[in-house]
Amino acid sequence: MMLSVRDLRVSFRTDDGLVRAIDGVSFDLAEGEILGVVGESGSGKTVSLLAVMGLITDPNAKIEGSIRYKGRELVGLPARELRRLRGNEIAMIFQDPMTALTPVYTIGWQIAEQIQAHRKIGKAKALERVEELLAEVNFPNPREAMSRYPHQLSGGMRQRAVIAMALSCDPALLVADEPTTALDVTVQAGILDLVRKLRSTHNSAVVFITHDMGVVSELADRVMVMYAGRVVERGSRVELFSDPRHPYTRALLGSIPPLTGEKPRRLPAIPGSPPSLLRLPQGCAFGPRCPVRYEPCQADKPSLGSGTHAAACFRVAQA
Ligand SMILES: Nc1ncnc2c1ncn2[C@@H]1O[C@H](COP(=O)(O)OP(=O)(O)O)[C@@H](O)[C@H]1O
Ligand SMILES: [Mg+2]
Repeated sequence: MMLSVRDLRVSFRTDDGLVRAIDGVSFDLAEGEILGVVGESGSGKTVSLLAVMGLITDPNAKIEGSIRYKGRELVGLPARELRRLRGNEIAMIFQDPMTALTPVYTIGWQIAEQIQAHRKIGKAKALERVEELLAEVNFPNPREAMSRYPHQLSGGMRQRAVIAMALSCDPALLVADEPTTALDVTVQAGILDLVRKLRSTHNSAVVFITHDMGVVSELADRVMVMYAGRVVERGSRVELFSDPRHPYTRALLGSIPPLTGEKPRRLPAIPGSPPSLLRLPQGCAFGPRCPVRYEPCQADKPSLGSGTHAAACFRVAQA
């Protein structure tokens, strides 16, 4: 297994108390596989993957559990080692491409810099490589794009440039955190194509974070549904969409936005809101919003179990 995460826990000390952001998350990722991580805002998608990337810098954070990448334990690895891994093997792209781009340099120059930071090659060779990469992410005129500044590109173009930058290190693992959320549907479809192409040409493994079940259904091989810092259901894409088990997954599926045409301004909401991570209910965290809750749900937290398709729900266990 390329990536094995076991019982990951991340908590933050705050003035209001301890925030248990990630409460025992486990998952595996194989080479060339696309894992969709889905859940409402605040469910712990970003924090769990930032932990994998070694990018949680908050001094009040505590990270426990095990994150093994190609057999090597990452929890507790010195920052310098993690940085080397991020530049060479693991790349991350975010919702806002400007977090990775510098406004004052041209696209070509900054991607070339990134390449030179990790490979011992001259500027001319690096710039040649940038042109190839921009062609690979479907810039119609890569040479011209290289001379542009980020603000001279559209949001979709900027995100493509960031993907080109991420590809420059030929990553074995790409973590994409809602990279299409700010883009319109057509541009989003292009980015999803790109991720699929990346998997087929580079055999990269991809973790794709989204709150959008529609995106998951387009892209993921396997899916992990998160709620209040835990995994509530996991399975293959087919299992999850043909036989959703957890009431939360079912609720999310009731709110799939259309993949074509106009995006609705707001998703049809699941009644209620996620619990405060400072005061989680004793039993199932989804219980207060769950249409099928019954007594056992208030006493204990349901566990996920070990199957490839599994749901953390007493109703499911009973069925
Ligand atoms: N540095 C921090 N200090 C305190 N709480 C945090 C910190 N970072 C994240 N959190 C909390 O962790 C929870 C999970 O956040 P996040 O992973 O960003 O959710 P998602 O990506 O699913 O929207 C949220 O409740 C968030 O407020
Ligand atoms: Mg997030």
